[in-house]
Amino acid sequence: MLVSLFICPLCQSPLQPAADTWRCDGSLNPKKTAHPFDVARQGYVNLLPVQQKKSKAPGDSQASIEARKRFLNAGHYQPLQALICQKMAELLVKDELISKQKSKPVNWLDIGCGEGYYTQAMAQTGMDTIIAADISKPAVVELAKANKATHSLWYQKEVTVDAKLAEGSKTAVIYPLVTSAAHLPLRKHSINGISSIFSPILPTAFNDVLTSKGYLIIAKPDAGHLSAVREALFDDVREHDSDKFLQDLAPYFTLLNTYNVSTELTLSADDLADLLTMTPYAYRARSEKKQALLASVVTEKFATEAKFIVYVMQKTVIV
Ligand SMILES: C[S@@+](CC[C@H](N)C(=O)[O-])C[C@H]1O[C@@H](n2cnc3c(N)ncnc32)[C@H](O)[C@@H]1O
Ligand SMILES: [Zn+2]
Repeated sequence: MLVSLFICPLCQSPLQPAADTWRCDGSLNPKKTAHPFDVARQGYVNLLPVQQKKSKAPGDSQASIEARKRFLNAGHYQPLQALICQKMAELLVKDELISKQKSKPVNWLDIGCGEGYYTQAMAQTGMDTIIAADISKPAVVELAKANKATHSLWYQKEVTVDAKLAEGSKTAVIYPLVTSAAHLPLRKHSINGISSIFSPILPTAFNDVLTSKGYLIIAKPDAGHLSAVREALFDDVREHDSDKFLQDLAPYFTLLNTYNVSTELTLSADDLADLLTMTPYAYRARSEKKQALLASVVTEKFATEAKFIVYVMQKTVIV
């Protein structure tokens, strides 16, 4: 049997997945007792202890998740999804991580996965397992439901984790987890790559769980992202601060490459309403400005440009 990828969020002992209840072995628990974590009916596991919750319902709300799901499934950000997956597949092939002779599974963590628009596509790039992790329970519920329906969850494919290695199957096994990026319930040096798509970036936590030379893929809005929307909402348009986080990552990661993705959007009133609900800065806009913007789109579609930047980084080997 493979060594478990997971550790207990309460006592850090090895945590063994199972179809009904995950249990730690209690070896690092002073009381030496095991902690159980039930698998929810939708197929996810909640590994966020109450003491790590900073609010009653942390992370994105049900309403923003539903809006994002509609907007993303309409394909508006498909070029970004394609670029991320292409780069991921190239990294995996380059390292021969998915060569037929490999003996170890390739594990990927998608942190702040939301309802899984990007995660779903990542699962087709050649890795064996994807840990789809988010602090928002409604987001993970959505992701788990969708993957349960396609039989992609770990317990639906349990026998195939080993078999997959042999047969070279293309779709990864998915583990949907409610967890905080700051307290990842993952064994040290067990993860080959992490993606953080518009999501939190925690340099030391990422460094701890990544294998030597593990990858980090980050997507962020680029300068000029949705500028027509921001001009309509704010008198004073501030630019996105795209690369301040790079300084924090510098002690652990080397930047291999950056990629810019631009895409012209032509949005209906419904698309725009969803975009405003899923976009954090829209909360700051005055409600009259939002109403005026939405009213202007009733007769004519709204044109704007989405601009993203993708950073591909690699854990620096300390010599
Ligand atoms: C802007 S959304 C991006 C979601 C998804 N990656 C996408 O692009 O569609 C950011 C996500 O990060 C999650 N999040 C925020 N803080 C987090 C934390 N500390 N740990 C894990 N996830 C977090 C939110 O719940 C939300 O789903
Ligand atoms: Zn435990």
